[in-house]
Amino acid sequence: MEKLKIGVIGVGNISSAHIDGYRANPDCELYAFCDINEKTLTEKGKKYGIERLYADHKKMLAALPELDAVSVCTWNNAHAECTIDALNAGKHVFCEKPMAMNAAQAKSMKKAAEKAGKVLGIGFVRRHGRDTELARELVEDGKTGEIYYGKATYIRRNGNPGGWFGNKSLSGGGPLIDLGVHVIDLARYIAGNPKPVSVYGATFTKLYNRIELKDSKGYVSAGYNGKNDVCDVEDLASALIRFDNGFVLALETSYSLNVGQDQGKVELFGTKGGIEINPDLSFHTEYEGRLADIHFPSPTAFDGSEYAKEIDNFVSVIRGKGRLVADADDGIELMRILDAIYESARTGHEVIL
Ligand SMILES: NC(=O)c1ccc[n+]([C@@H]2O[C@H](COP(=O)([O-])OP(=O)(O)OC[C@H]3O[C@@H](n4cnc5c(N)ncnc54)[C@H](O)[C@@H]3O)[C@@H](O)[C@H]2O)c1
Repeated sequence: MEKLKIGVIGVGNISSAHIDGYRANPDCELYAFCDINEKTLTEKGKKYGIERLYADHKKMLAALPELDAVSVCTWNNAHAECTIDALNAGKHVFCEKPMAMNAAQAKSMKKAAEKAGKVLGIGFVRRHGRDTELARELVEDGKTGEIYYGKATYIRRNGNPGGWFGNKSLSGGGPLIDLGVHVIDLARYIAGNPKPVSVYGATFTKLYNRIELKDSKGYVSAGYNGKNDVCDVEDLASALIRFDNGFVLALETSYSLNVGQDQGKVELFGTKGGIEINPDLSFHTEYEGRLADIHFPSPTAFDGSEYAKEIDNFVSVIRGKGRLVADADDGIELMRILDAIYESARTGHEVIL
């Protein structure tokens, strides 16, 4: 069987994880790159020995009918357009998270995939972790009992990367759409993918971009333009999300907050036991009349190997094997939740979904 010919649209930071995943998959041939930034495009092409380089995704799709699939790793504002154009051109698509700028765009992407009869996978990479697999087993085996409450936390003290991340017209929002999306999806996935029914949210834009602070650390976007940067996204989002099975999830996520330290964890509380991912998985329960904490001998924390797994899953499904771990419906549910949090924050009222 011929290898799948793969294109990558948007070859900045995260594209490297996709590219490495395709390179490691014996069923794939990296075939073409596209980026609106010529310098990034040329550098990435040189690094990976790719000569088919395009500054416009439409031109790439028109020039390469033989292309089988693409990864969409652009800024969030281009996810929908690039995905829909690629699907309409008959390509399978793997689109980074968040699926789109809002649920309406995400629904159009699903429609395009159905019309084209092509695979549309979404990059909820945390679903592919060893922690997630074990946590789901604990829930499915009945060890947690009924999961009724959870906390999803992704807090950065000073971690607005600047560039497009802080520019709402390119990102769609701040930490909620960039970081919160990971932990909301992870909690929802472990809890069995319930549907959201109502949301109360609050967002705050008080501190803006603090990259210039002397002790600032962390990832700075390649497009960061110092003090001239547009920064109009929230720096903190908080929400209470209620699901159709009674599960309630509390969320806190920030780019900038006067807090002691960064935090990234997901906690799920059940009638028989509680799951904590922080960053390794632990299980809090009762054992022979005592409170007990279970830790696992092999590492469970997210370590980046999950990116290759999501690419392998996408490729297998293209080949007709297995199911997508994260599909368009999952992407749409997340966008509905994010839309509702922003809407609730705007109005000051609960949003019923
Ligand atoms: N799953 C994860 O863990 C993870 C981590 C980081 C980023 N992401 C997601 O990946 C996407 C990209 O993030 P990044 O950190 O790589 O950003 P980046 O700025 O490093 O790279 C994005 C690239 O897309 C290019 N681009 C923008 N619009 C384009 C268009 N219309 N056509 C072609 N190229 C275009 C830019 O020039 C840039 O080179 C975002 O959606 C982000 O949310 C996911």
